[in-house]
Amino acid sequence: MPLLEIRDLIVLYGEIEALRGVSLTVEEGQVVTLLGANGAGKSTTLRAISGLARPAAGEIVFDGKSIAGLGPEAIVRLGISHVPEGRRIFPGLTVKENIMLGASNRRVAKSELSREADAMFDLFPDIRQFSNSLGWTLSGGQLQMVAVARGLMAKPRLLLLDEPSLGLAPVIVQAVFRIISQIRQNTTVLLVEQNARMGLSVADHGYVLETGRIVLGGKPDELWGNEAIAAAYLGGHAKVTA
Ligand SMILES: Nc1ncnc2c1ncn2[C@@H]1O[C@H](COP(=O)(O)OP(=O)(O)OP(=O)(O)O)[C@@H](O)[C@H]1O
Ligand SMILES: [Mg+2]
Repeated sequence: MPLLEIRDLIVLYGEIEALRGVSLTVEEGQVVTLLGANGAGKSTTLRAISGLARPAAGEIVFDGKSIAGLGPEAIVRLGISHVPEGRRIFPGLTVKENIMLGASNRRVAKSELSREADAMFDLFPDIRQFSNSLGWTLSGGQLQMVAVARGLMAKPRLLLLDEPSLGLAPVIVQAVFRIISQIRQNTTVLLVEQNARMGLSVADHGYVLETGRIVLGGKPDELWGNEAIAAAYLGGHAKVTA
């Protein structure tokens, strides 16, 4: 049984059909990358999984249970953590307090959470120096690291990452992807990326989304060399070759 299975998912924003029948599968222990141009429906797919967007039709099955239509808090409690687009770090809190917020789904003593948050800085050494300071000024890459660390504090079975490399300098993108390849050792990840090369470099499986539909899916080396990928990223229409 896959950890996550989405079948024929439809999501509407008013008149706009953002998802027009998306089906995809994430096996436990995998990193699955969802690729697609601006507006393809990548974020909406993650928002539907985490309960932020309500499906008009279709099924979302997590660990054998239907979760379509549940609210975000219930879904976090089941073990799904969403690191959304944009970084939403609270400036009035320290970096460590921001990270600890990610554990709001867990009933664990604050001292234990504090210890776990400190341990996060082993994975994200670049932000350790800001741990306890207020009035920090962080770079885009550092903010992204805080956001990912916060997502991991939920101890999710499934981590949803929305464009973690967006707007980052190439060397920082590499650092973020090094972290993803460490995370994958004990967490299943559904990763949204526009950077196909980086996104597929850490993936077991990839899907290409175009205007609300999956047009292609396969292992990274099956997707590479497929004209449809190039077409999707050049803004053209990918041919369905499956
Ligand atoms: N809150 C909203 N209200 C109305 N339409 C929306 C809303 N959010 C997204 N859309 C529309 O739904 C479609 C899918 O958007 P979505 O944000 O899922 O795309 P995306 O693949 O994540 O794009 P990007 O790469 O730009 O982040 C687009 O046509 C978008 O304009
Ligand atoms: Mg998006």
